[in-house]
Order: sequence, then structure tokens, then C-alpha cells
Amino acid sequence: MDSVDRASNSPVVVAIDGPSGSGKSTVSRAVAARLGLSFLDTGAMYRAMTWWMLANGVDVEDAEAVAVACGKPVIVSGTDAAGPTITVDGQDVSGPIRGPEVTGKVSAVAAVPAVRARLVELQRGCASHAERGIVAEGRDMGSVVFPNATVKVFLTASERARAERRAAELRAKGVDEATITAMAADLARRDAADSSRRTAPLTQAADAVLVDTSELTLDQVIDTITALVEQKAGLTAA
Ligand code: DC
Repeated sequence: MDSVDRASNSPVVVAIDGPSGSGKSTVSRAVAARLGLSFLDTGAMYRAMTWWMLANGVDVEDAEAVAVACGKPVIVSGTDAAGPTITVDGQDVSGPIRGPEVTGKVSAVAAVPAVRARLVELQRGCASHAERGIVAEGRDMGSVVFPNATVKVFLTASERARAERRAAELRAKGVDEATITAMAADLARRDAADSSRRTAPLTQAADAVLVDTSELTLDQVIDTITALVEQKAGLTAA
């Protein structure tokens, strides 16, 4: 398999952006696995930074305190699509970063420009070390981090479809209905915050392909994006 962007001769970068619950992580990881590319979940990096701030008693509502502290944690993302990892100062934080404390505070931390500057640098570093190219997902992959990405996708789904999917996931895990309702409200609040912040808000890059997943199955979305990458980058599935 060839993983060099035939048009530019540089490694393939697939930038996937979209709101929470659009299916970005699952889809991006599956596309990366199919095409033999690395995978980077940049939301996990913002979550890891937030986890460290909370663990170290930094007031995450104080943007200046967050900016001063954000150079301290060593955040490392393992980009193997078969088993992505995330560590902070050598500690595996993949579990705690998905908990309600971090989820409730991550938008505030992600809005701080110094945090974004630091993590964008790490994200570009991951891409430059990816052997065969990378699928990177987040909110500003196509608009800010990888403006020259080989392929840019903006994944969306109606608010209702996103809320229903998230509720089904939670129900399958045995979460009670009151918690599901509270989590839906939190998701809407987070999307509003991520879309309205000053620095790198969630936005569709001008040259991104819009894929609305509301009426598609997961496999259909994965097939659509894999085909798009194959076509644009001259790649074929592994
Ligand atoms: O995708 P996620 O829910 O794990 O993202 C966690 C938070 O990080 C979310 O509030 C948006 C923010 N984020 C961001 O600002 N920029 C990115 N590239 C990725 C995530």
C-alpha cells in the first residue's frame, strides 16, 4: 500500500472534525485501521490536560492560572489505531479522562489559547512521526492544525440523532434515565461552548467535505470516508 499523498508527495493527513456525538472517534479510528494509518484523538489530549489541572488543584475557570500551568504536564498520545493510548507524566489516564469531572470542565480548558498552542504543537508532532500518515479527529483539525490536510471531512448529525445515539450507548451501559437526560444537557452546553469560543471554534473548513451521518449506519459512514480518502489520496484499503 502506498501512503504518500500522490498530489503533494507528503504523508497523508486525514482531518476529521465535528460536534460531540457525530461518531467522529469511532469512524476515524476505523478508517485509520482500514487504511493502515495512525490515529489521533485530539479530544483525549484536551481531556488529559484537564485531568492534570484538576489533579493538581488548578482552578480551571481561571484562564490565566490554566495558561501558566499548561506547559507542565507531559502528555503522550499513542497513535496505533488498533489500541490508542494516552498518558500524563507516564500515567495511563484513558479511563479517568472520560469521567464526569473531566467532561464537565474540558470546554473551559480547551478555550484557553495557551493550552491550544501547546496541544496543537504536540498534534503536529504526532502527524510528523506517523509512519504511513494519520487520521486526526477533533474540532479544528481542518481549519487550524492541518490546513493542508490531504482530505478534510466535517461530520455532522442532527442534534436529535446525536442525542439518541448517546442515550442508546449509555442505556447499554446500564446508566439510569435521569443521568442520561443530564448528560444530554451537558452535551448541548459543551457543543455551544466549543462552537462559540474565540480561539479555534468548531467550524467546517471551506474545503472540507460535509458528511451528515443522521440517516447513515456506522458502516456506511466508514465506507463513505474510506472511499473519499482512497479517491483523494490514491490510497487503497489494507
Ligand atoms: O471529542 P471530545 O468530546 O473528547 O473532546 C473533548 C473536548 O475537547 C470538547 O469539549 C472539545 C474540545 N476539543 C477541542 O477544543 N479541540 C479539539 N481539536 C478536540 C477537542
